[in-house]
Amino acid sequence: MWVISPKDIEMNILIAGGAGFIGSHLTDVLLEAGHKIVCVDNLCLGSENMIKHHFENPCFSFCKQNICDVEKLNEVFALNKFERVYHLAANSDIQKGGKNPSIDIHDTLETTICILNAMHKHGVKELLFASTSAVYGDKRERLQETAGDLRPISYYGGAKLASEAMISAFAAMNTMKVSIIRFPNVVGPRLTHGAVYDFIKKLRKNPKELEILGDGKQEKPYIYVADLIEAMLFLPFETGMNIYNAGVESATTVKKIADIVCEEMGLKGVEYKFTGGSIGWPGDVPKFQYDLSKIHSAGWKAKHTSDEAVRLAAKATL
Ligand SMILES: NC(=O)c1ccc[n+]([C@@H]2O[C@H](COP(=O)([O-])OP(=O)(O)OC[C@H]3O[C@@H](n4cnc5c(N)ncnc54)[C@H](O)[C@@H]3O)[C@@H](O)[C@H]2O)c1
Repeated sequence: MWVISPKDIEMNILIAGGAGFIGSHLTDVLLEAGHKIVCVDNLCLGSENMIKHHFENPCFSFCKQNICDVEKLNEVFALNKFERVYHLAANSDIQKGGKNPSIDIHDTLETTICILNAMHKHGVKELLFASTSAVYGDKRERLQETAGDLRPISYYGGAKLASEAMISAFAAMNTMKVSIIRFPNVVGPRLTHGAVYDFIKKLRKNPKELEILGDGKQEKPYIYVADLIEAMLFLPFETGMNIYNAGVESATTVKKIADIVCEEMGLKGVEYKFTGGSIGWPGDVPKFQYDLSKIHSAGWKAKHTSDEAVRLAAKATL
């Protein structure tokens, strides 16, 4: 299933947020490629189930701790002599964060600052940061990495953009090699959140009707997690801060996601109950499309379309 990156020299790698949906897949692939992995995660959204298949692997260790616990984080850095950090820890529960801004300030922004400080203190130079389309805000043109005037409309998007700003400063001050990848919606096995996950949960409770947030016309690109991991392993770490959109050219509406999930669950005649309005929740960007020319010309392209990614994720979640 996975395309393993060409085996470079074995590295000591920290994956922050490694017990989450995307982080656990990254852990699998980097261990397979022969690296030593330390996963730091407080399991506020992730789960041991995602990584427990590695517990006997001597190349893997798991530290259940809050990344913002600076003393403990420094101990982990001091013990492990990391050469690279993948920072995926964040609050991925956007709606919960929408009700309480301190969640995003803490789990999305402060985690980044704590990681950067620890990298600075321990001389670690390579960082991959999991960013998001939410940094662009609600822009209707094709989103280019060089776009200016970024005005996020959610605390989550704001915390990610503020993270990018701090990463820029640390990269410049410490001659770091940083890749920032702005993910679109990501789907696949081990989902912890999102429309596919929510719809399946709701339909298991009541297979006759489905509440759909908004008018169902929200339309976004969904990338299959294996494709995204390939992009994360493919892009080189070069001096400075290099920003890439990673995504797919196609997009899927929320109503289409409901249709795919119902088909995969073998359900017919499900009554859709739209809550109405063009957005699903405050801070939701109802429609966006990336300009992918930068990552495509670097030589990476996703293998699955948006609809295919959604269908594969639905199959894997059932
Ligand atoms: N899944 C998507 O569609 C998507 C889209 C754009 C960006 N991203 C970004 O990709 C990254 C991974 O997302 P995911 O979908 O795997 O989410 P996830 O919630 O499954 O993973 C995030 C992990 O971070 C951990 N975490 C959060 N705060 C922490 C803290 N203070 N200390 C230690 N651990 C903490 C959580 O327990 C969780 O395991 C996140 O940074 C997210 O913002 C995801």
